[in-house]
Order: sequence, then structure tokens, then C-alpha cells
Amino acid sequence: MKRTNYAGRTSKEQIGQEVVLKGWVAKRRNLGGLIFIDLRDREGIVQLVFNEEDNPTAFAVANECRSEYILEVSGTVRARAEVNPDLATGEIEVVVATAKILARSKTPAFAIKDDVDATEDLRLKYRYLDLRRPQMMKNMKLRSKVAAIVHNYYDANDFMDVETPNLTRSTPEGARDFLVPARTEAGHFYALPQSPQLFKQLLMAAGVDRYYQMARCFRDEDLRGDRQPEFTQIDTEMSFATAEEIQEMTEGLIKRVMKEALGVDVQTPFPRLDWQEAMDRFGSDKPDTRFGMEIHDLSDLVKDSSFKVFSSTVAAGNYVRAICVPDGADKYSRKDITKKEDYIKRYGAKGLAWVKVTADGYNGPVAKFLTDLADPINDRLGAKEGDLILFVAASFKVVCDSLGYLRRAIAKELDLIKPGQWNYLWVVNWPMFEYDEGFGKWIAAHHPFTMLKEEDLHYLEDGEDPHQAHAQSYDIVLNGNEIGGGSIRIHDPQVQEKVLKALGYSKEEANARFGFLLRGLENGMPPEGGLAFGFDRWVMLLAGADNIRDVIPFPKNSHGVEPMTAAPGTVDQEQLDELHLQVAKDQGNYSAD
Ligand code: AMO
Ligand code: AMP
Repeated sequence: MKRTNYAGRTSKEQIGQEVVLKGWVAKRRNLGGLIFIDLRDREGIVQLVFNEEDNPTAFAVANECRSEYILEVSGTVRARAEVNPDLATGEIEVVVATAKILARSKTPAFAIKDDVDATEDLRLKYRYLDLRRPQMMKNMKLRSKVAAIVHNYYDANDFMDVETPNLTRSTPEGARDFLVPARTEAGHFYALPQSPQLFKQLLMAAGVDRYYQMARCFRDEDLRGDRQPEFTQIDTEMSFATAEEIQEMTEGLIKRVMKEALGVDVQTPFPRLDWQEAMDRFGSDKPDTRFGMEIHDLSDLVKDSSFKVFSSTVAAGNYVRAICVPDGADKYSRKDITKKEDYIKRYGAKGLAWVKVTADGYNGPVAKFLTDLADPINDRLGAKEGDLILFVAASFKVVCDSLGYLRRAIAKELDLIKPGQWNYLWVVNWPMFEYDEGFGKWIAAHHPFTMLKEEDLHYLEDGEDPHQAHAQSYDIVLNGNEIGGGSIRIHDPQVQEKVLKALGYSKEEANARFGFLLRGLENGMPPEGGLAFGFDRWVMLLAGADNIRDVIPFPKNSHGVEPMTAAPGTVDQEQLDELHLQVAKDQGNYSAD
């Protein structure tokens, strides 16, 4: 029998009509002589009615059905006696004439419903069951819809969709590479691309002019709620374009996606914030501007304070900064604040000083040192009676990380973020280089192919400090999340060599790793730039999900394991031999069960 429509789209316009539906048994209620089945497909649920007296054959089929059996039914749509307002199809039901079981199912590992109580690993192991849940299906549909808009938008703007290889050489985007051993050449490895960065630049050398791709990227980094080892970028590149033109093109896409996928109008152009200002005011290079509680610098006010922690910090050239928690005095106990203090120690903070603002001045262990300064401090912070002020004295990075974290954590705890806000903004004017404490060396803040500000090029000359230079790069931020980033690229081979040198690559190393790019730059490379969105991350925010795994059909868990297929898995000795590999003894015994 040919299906007439999706079960979940059966409508009251069809009352009186015959329909043929196919779907899963979501729920079955036997009222004795009368069975109701909620039939589910990807569009939703419709109620089926089986009446023993009128149709004993169909009733017998219904009687045999269990959860998640697949049914084919034909029947007539009728108005329900009692409307179910919680259901899109709640005004109607289908009186079944014929019914056939198309597939049986074991009792599912967990009930298919939205507030599922299964552990995430169980959900991932039976991901196809998990994806049957309406919320997950909705997320997948949103993802598909956004992808369709992306394709339409870039196609309409003359971008060419070009694929780039997944078996390639390492491209440094700051993460560890996934490697694939080459069978044909012992000891040689492909790297999976961290992004198509160098290929898209070389596509500009090829004359493609405008490129886009929904590109799979692979990064072997520690996983978090907004990171996956394998993820998708909306990757773009434009020849002869300025940073502003690229940003404008990107804003056009965002505007369309917001309108067509969510029905929300957003105003462009989005605010531009200098990196320095973002760090100073929000303690973050991806500021969340949905709430206040901004950071203020008090260094000038406390430089001569009798509180030695503060005065000595300023004397050493560091910073004393603070946030004011509105009405926080009653909401945070000494114990709560100690917990926060312990937490920010992971950023390198030595402590968290605090005062409560009362009618009689400051209150708290360090209040006595700050009483004289209460007026100017309160003025600067906009502090009033009942507020709590939190101070951190430390280096720029530690102050920003600590207060940036406290600001976000407290806003969440105190529910200061009004829902329904879509705060897109650009962070621009980034430093070109940043010092990586972990690696103990300077790295590119965006990537090594990013062009410096023209006026900063002199910093690359001998005898100057390249680390002072700023880059022509930009990040697009949504509600405190980095959803994309890009830059104008270096198209002059000499500048590229100097930047690689500033990053510690010798001429030989630079040639060995990036010779193909340098040759490209020597063979007619247009000035150009681009941007890549983290597609999964953006869709996660659009879907209102709080974990990236909820918008990826088959994601890895937080240990990098994909529990359904139990990847990564062990392989046969024969495969290892072919790849010229030896595995250290007793390694690799992971099993999904
Ligand atoms: P970048 O490294 O900033 O830039 O990546 C672009 C965007 O990709 C997303 N992203 C991730 N999403 C999920 N899981 C991950 N592990 C992950 N890592 C990054 C982020 C980020 O903003 N080639 C450059 C772009 C360019 O210069 O054009 C690049 O890859 O949302
Ligand atoms: P101490 O004099 O070290 O006992 O510290 C007194 C108060 O100052 C405590 O509440 C500490 O948490 C706080 N404190 C110490 N070091 C710092 C710092 N670097 N920044 C902010 N507060 C600090």
C-alpha cells in the first residue's frame, strides 16, 4: 500500500478521507474492546483507533503490537470527541480499517520520549532509538534546514562548492592531528585535515574566486560540550575581498538563517568589539553581552591601598579588577565565595577578595583596607547597597580568565540572562601571536596564514618585537560562544616566511611543511580572505541545545568513543602488517559492552 502522508502531518482538512500511514508504535492503550495506538513517524504522532466489534481483524493486529513495532495501517480520519491540545494532530484520529505489522522490535533499551532518563552512553549505543525522540528529530531537521539555506545563499552569491581532500598533510590549526598510516609507503602518514585552510587558499590561486564547502574537519583535542573530534565547518573564502566585505557576506547568511530557520529578525551590521575591549570588559575573547556585570579596572584607585595584595600587584605592573554582583550580598555566603575562590585557582588566581556593600559601608574580611576607597570604587562599578563586589589582583590573563569565568557562572546561577536574545557580535583587531603556556612558545592567535594589520608589518623586521603585531582576523560570536572565525590571508611569500620565522620555523622546516603553500604564493596568489563557521556549534545554539552531541547524529562521547560502533576498535594483525605498524603489547582492549 502506498503511504498517503506522514502520520505526524495528518490534519483536520483530511477528516472523512482515507489515509495510509506507516510508523512506529509509540504508545498503546487497551481499554478492552478498544485499543488506541499513538503512531509515530519523523513528523510526529497521530492517534489510531481499533474497535474490536467493528473490525476484529485489525483489532487482533493491534493487540499483538508492542512498543516500537512498525505498523502499516489504512483507515479514515475523523474528528476527536476530546481534543488533545498538546498534540499537533490532537483534533483528529484515524479509525483503522486494515493493519499489518511490518517489523517487530525488542523492548527498547529506553523509552522513546523527550525527557529520557537513560545515560548518555546508552543513548549513543542505541542512537537510532535516541534519534527517534521528537527533540532529536527536530534538531536533525533544523540542521538539514540550515545546511539547505547555506547552500542556497552561497550559490546565489556566486560561490563555488569545491571539495578538498580528507587524506592530506597536517594543517596547523592548533590542535593535534589524526593520522592515517599509508600502506604504500612505510612510515608515512596522511593527516586528516583540521580544516581545509591551505586548500581553500590555493583554490584562490586557482582562480575559483569565491569558494564554500560544508567541510568535515578533524582535531584530536580534549573534548568538551561544544567540541567534537570530527565536526563540520561552513568554510568560505573570497578573493579580492576586504575583512569588512567578508563580514558583510557572513552577516547576510546569519540574517537569512535566523529568518528562514527560526523566524527571527536580527539587525545587521553586528557590533564590532576590539579584542582588547572584549577582554577588558568581559574577560573573554567571546563575550556574552546578554547581561551586564562588566569587569572594571581599579588599578589606579587601589595602587596606594593599605591592602598589600592590591598595591603590590599594581606596583608589579599587574591589574586589580572587579565585578559587582547586583543584590549579591544576600545571595552569596562566605562559604559560597570560598568555593568560587577555589575554582578560579585553576586559572592561576591567588585569591578572591570581596566586600558586601551595606548602608554602613563595606563589610567582609578586607573591608577595613578598602573603606577609604569605597566611594570611587562604588562609583566606578555602579555598586549600591546590597551588592557584592569580587576583586581579583593578578596578571592580565589571570584577571580576565578569573573574572570572565565568575561573570558567566554568577549570571547563570542568578538567572540574569533573559531568554530569547540572539547577541551576535564580531571580535576584531586580534593580536597576531599569543603565548601558549602549555607549549611554552608563541603560537598564531588565529593561524599562521593570517595577514597582519598593514601598519604593523614593520614588527616583522629584524630588531623589532613581532609579538606586538595585530592581525586582520575576526571571530563571530553568538551569546558568548565562538561560532566562527576567519582572516585576511598573507598573499606575499616574503611576509609568510617572516611570520613562520616568528613562530619558530626555520627556513628548512617552513619549506618542508609548507613548501606547497609558499610555491602557491609565488605563482600569482590574489589578495584574499575568508571565514569558517563551526556548523555544529551554531546549530547547537540555534536549537537551544546545551551540548554539541545533541545536534550530531553519531557523535563521540567525552572519551572520544562512539558507543554504537565501539569505535575506535582494535584491528587484525594482518591489517597492522600491511600498514607496517606494531602495537605495544596489551594495548587497545576497549569493548562497547
Ligand atoms: P577555527 O579553527 O577558528 O578556524 O575554526 C572555525 C570554527 O570551527 C568551530 N570549531 C569546532 N567545532 C566543533 N568541534 C571542534 N573541535 C571545533 N574546533 C573549531 C568553531 C570555530 O570558530 N581555517 C580557519 C577558518 C578561516 O580562517 O577561514 C579555522 O578552521 O566554531
Ligand atoms: P591573605 O591576606 O592572603 O589572607 O588574603 C586576604 C584576602 O585577599 C582573602 O580573601 C584572599 O582570597 C584575598 N586575596 C589574596 N590574594 C588575592 C589576589 N591576588 N586577588 C584577589 N584577592 C586576593
